[in-house]
Amino acid sequence: MTNDISRRDWLRGGSAAAVAMVMGNSRALAQDMAVPGFKPTAENPIRLGTNENPYGISRAARNAIIKMFDTAHHYGRGKYMELIQTLAEMEGVEPKNITFSSGSGEILKTLGLITKVEGGRVLTAEPTYHDLTRYAERRDVPITRVPVDENMTIDLDAMREAYTDDVSIIYLVNPNNPLPSIMHKDKLRDFCIDMSKKCLVFIDEAYHEYVENPDYETMVPLTATHENIVVARTASKIHGFAGVRLGIGYGSEAWIRKIREFMTGGTNQLAVAGAAESYKDTETQDFLRRKNRESLQITYNLFDKHGVEYVKSNSNFIFFKTGKDIQEVRKMFSENGIIVARPFPPFLDWCRVSMGKPEDMQYFAEVYEKLFT
Ligand SMILES: Cc1ncc(COP(=O)(O)O)c(C=O)c1O
Repeated sequence: MTNDISRRDWLRGGSAAAVAMVMGNSRALAQDMAVPGFKPTAENPIRLGTNENPYGISRAARNAIIKMFDTAHHYGRGKYMELIQTLAEMEGVEPKNITFSSGSGEILKTLGLITKVEGGRVLTAEPTYHDLTRYAERRDVPITRVPVDENMTIDLDAMREAYTDDVSIIYLVNPNNPLPSIMHKDKLRDFCIDMSKKCLVFIDEAYHEYVENPDYETMVPLTATHENIVVARTASKIHGFAGVRLGIGYGSEAWIRKIREFMTGGTNQLAVAGAAESYKDTETQDFLRRKNRESLQITYNLFDKHGVEYVKSNSNFIFFKTGKDIQEVRKMFSENGIIVARPFPPFLDWCRVSMGKPEDMQYFAEVYEKLFT
């Protein structure tokens, strides 16, 4: 164990890797630069490509999931209502304003499906997260994409101008992805209220828990007072449920009913039981935010030292300019044991890197300096 990792930090994140080492599970080991002597390789890389929580699911959530196994052979919703109640109180909405899905991606696709079935066009930014638009486009739903502004922020004035009568859904990601920028809370609130008189305004807040910017605000409270505003959240990010699958939809009673009607999957008792604990576990979330800040700082220091252009993060990833083709950059990183994200047109000489543990980012910095300086 390295000196800069406290025993507590080790117990939270490192013990899984220690167990994995004993059991010879290289995938889990690959996540832990804190294990002495560990060196990432192309076959056993560190994962900085999919914006995951590198510490995994919290102890409390893990224990709740294990306990739920006792009754997981029964049909039924398990702790569904308990989680709904917890979230309703946390967010200041009513239980009727909430639904769950198999990851928030299911809500995104469901809204794409509704647009296909009921007709209309999707208005969104470029670049942004692709689940909804990709799903809709494959079903011939027309899409209008509005480029981000010169500050790499979603341009709400340009979005208003791009609105046409056939738009049935406006999809905005806040903080955006792959650009970890945010929309200013006052401007976004006005936009949601105005535009929701014309169509559905759908805000994707997948990275909500990581934001520490006073200009940011969640739009969840608006979903309880305005008919045509829906917000998606996910347990995949700070809660570490990417492989467990729990998404959350907030909306008016009418929209929640419609989403449930169209959705074909939904979540499961284990995910719900884990989330019921994870969302209450603010201590672990504070720890993860602190670690994320440390990782961001290591990466900012690297980029500042070498004059690299980058978009400052409101999230758990950074978007930076390499000046080289992203496919080539991915290959170079991969050969050195690091996975970075896929291409995001039109920024094909930029790269998105997710925040691992601080020691992962130190390794990333070493590799960056070896390859690019
Ligand atoms: C902005 C955004 N929305 C939604 C998702 C979907 O996440 P999940 O389906 O795991 O909840 C992601 C995943 O990376 C994302 O970045």
